[in-house]
Amino acid sequence: MPTPARLHVAHALHEVFGEKGRVPDIWDRDLGEDAHLAQALLGLCLRRWGRLQAWVKPKLKDPARGVPLGTQVALAMGLVQLAWLPGVSDHAAVNEAVELAATRDLGFVPHKGLVNAILRRAAKDRAGLAAELEALPAALDRTPATERALKAALAPHGAEAGLEELWARLQQPPRPSFRVLTGEPPEGLEPDADLPGCFRLAEEAPFPRPWLEAAQGMVQDRSSQALLAYSWDRPVARILDACAAPGGKTTTLALRHPGAELTALEVHPRRVARLRQTLQQRGLSAQVIQADAAEWLERSDTAFDLILLDAPCSGSGTLQKHPEWPWLVHDDLPRLTGLQRRLLTAAADRLAPGGLLIYAVCSWLPEEGAAHRDWLAEARPGLQPAAVWPADRGAPADAEGGRTAFFRPHPLRWEGEGFQAFAVARAAR
Ligand SMILES: C[S@@+](CC[C@H](N)C(=O)[O-])C[C@H]1O[C@@H](n2cnc3c(N)ncnc32)[C@H](O)[C@@H]1O
Repeated sequence: MPTPARLHVAHALHEVFGEKGRVPDIWDRDLGEDAHLAQALLGLCLRRWGRLQAWVKPKLKDPARGVPLGTQVALAMGLVQLAWLPGVSDHAAVNEAVELAATRDLGFVPHKGLVNAILRRAAKDRAGLAAELEALPAALDRTPATERALKAALAPHGAEAGLEELWARLQQPPRPSFRVLTGEPPEGLEPDADLPGCFRLAEEAPFPRPWLEAAQGMVQDRSSQALLAYSWDRPVARILDACAAPGGKTTTLALRHPGAELTALEVHPRRVARLRQTLQQRGLSAQVIQADAAEWLERSDTAFDLILLDAPCSGSGTLQKHPEWPWLVHDDLPRLTGLQRRLLTAAADRLAPGGLLIYAVCSWLPEEGAAHRDWLAEARPGLQPAAVWPADRGAPADAEGGRTAFFRPHPLRWEGEGFQAFAVARAAR
């Protein structure tokens, strides 16, 4: 029987390539010390999937026919360990992959011998295997949806030539960023020189799990932190976080505007529970409502001084953290952009005089960000762009007097998730 770490990785790969589903956030929860190996193994399988399959193909009896997913998974896991995980012995890499191939629901039993033969041969020269795999074109690991997302990230900055550089950066597992909620940061976190209040995990430092579990700090991506560092000095009495779970940004809003009345909406019941739990653990209060934000806003007669609409989106900006993103089916963009437009319209219409609305998506695709901004400028001329971020957080064309109303950091110069956010304000009466 393969080790639990390898079984978890195999399950995750079947979820992505068989079901076209995301890797669940807590997929490695019960793995203890083996979580490190499992994370590295899964990350490399997903990030190098295209080249792994391309390397195997000519070694098959019938390359055109290919092999079942169970065989692909066993081979990919074995090859990754042999090529890039030097701490794993030949014996463990090969035998466990063969056992996996022989596992009924995860492997493909008739291909046990094939997996054994290919991996045994590869194990004879692990450095040579790594060199062969590295020499294959990086584009094999991308899909058309990925190419489109990368081009969309670079285009506003006139940096289209940097596609390979951006892709190479996104292949590195992200270095986590944190925010302190109470007290001092633990050892191993160092201040981010470019982003006040943000802390990064130092090289080789242990992940600060006990500190996070004690709700003294939270994980928050640099881009989310930077976009919530908007400059705004008008009074804020009522805040709406329209799409709030799991509550990272709700937390920041509550801490930034402690005297304000905060309403947090979320449509999915399980995520509402998570949001409530997050706020409770952090000792923060908000009125949490389970509702479709568009419907709720369309019925509401409350006007808000600050609205954050962190809308559901394709997540194309998160492919460094979610290396499965390239391999998922992305056919629901029309539904998402329709929902985003409806949420944006409803939110804009509940903005109080003198109020600020921030629309955000963790996506580079123009139809999820720039297009909505342009549409809103036409459809709601009473709202004016609000330049609440430093100009270098946006594209050069969006800068006005050292500031910008359109947050979309340069993907090659900014370490953080890909985001588009724009801010508009209603004139005070
Ligand atoms: C990008 S996530 C929000 C992340 C959150 N702001 C944070 O920083 O922790 C979008 C959230 O919107 C929720 N959502 C999707 N459609 C919604 C709708 N119609 N009304 C309210 N929430 C919705 C999703 O379930 C998801 O939790």
